[in-house]
Amino acid sequence: MPLVLSGRKYARVVRASIRNRVTELNGSPPGLAVVIVGDNAASKVYVAAKEKACEKVGFHSSVIALSGETTEADILRLIDELNADDSVHGILVQLPLPDHISVDRVASAVMPEKDVDGFHPVNVGRLWRGEDGLFPCTPSGIVGLLHHHDIVLSGKNALIVGRSNIVGKPMAALLLRENCTVTVAHSRTVDLMKQCRKADILIAAVGRAEMIKRNWIKPGAVIVDVGMNRNSDGKLVGDVDYDDVFDVCSAITPVPGGVGPLTIAFLLENTFKARTNLLAK
Ligand code: GUN
Repeated sequence: MPLVLSGRKYARVVRASIRNRVTELNGSPPGLAVVIVGDNAASKVYVAAKEKACEKVGFHSSVIALSGETTEADILRLIDELNADDSVHGILVQLPLPDHISVDRVASAVMPEKDVDGFHPVNVGRLWRGEDGLFPCTPSGIVGLLHHHDIVLSGKNALIVGRSNIVGKPMAALLLRENCTVTVAHSRTVDLMKQCRKADILIAAVGRAEMIKRNWIKPGAVIVDVGMNRNSDGKLVGDVDYDDVFDVCSAITPVPGGVGPLTIAFLLENTFKARTNLLAK
């Protein structure tokens, strides 16, 4: 039987630790500002969850909801104001943004010290250079989860399927920092199954329901499933066929309750860190 890596349980541990550290701040908690633009239903759900998570650990949070017609200049001006506001330690602009707004310009406008998403080029550079900084929440949570379960990473072959800026690329950098031998596969990879079969650690972040089957898995591999898809029955499933691979792997994250809860837990962790670093400046 493999070890089931519960992100839900680990996120509880992380939140409890943050709550304790907030208590020690004697009434001067971290503050997070979340900016949401337009009417994306999923984004509204995520932003509400972030606000609630802040409240539960004793952070200040504010949500700034802007219409889908807001100009890029207006958003950049708002970010400047938040950069200058000493009560705001973390700034997050929820993605996706409407097409007329450049994600790159918005990400670069947030000052690196408040960039709790880890999307600013300075933080991306710090991540790849092995320096300290703020790094993307989902991959940071995954490394935390693997450490929490004492899974050895050093020297292991890690395959990441997916090369997004939010998950795949930062995941590669973080696993490299953990001394994994890292491969990043993507939609143009030739013979993905063969790549998967070499992986001791397999991180699936492709967005294709139950694509990865048992004959793709190296026996004893650790599987982390970042996917959140609906299958043909409307059921929430990952990128990995969980039941099919279950008895081949040594550890696996479920969907739901695996990677999902880590993102917000590590957003809180980054916001706490941003406050600490800003005060130390
Ligand atoms: N939309 C989906 N995931 C994320 C995330 O991690 N950060 C932001 N800002 N937007 C998202």
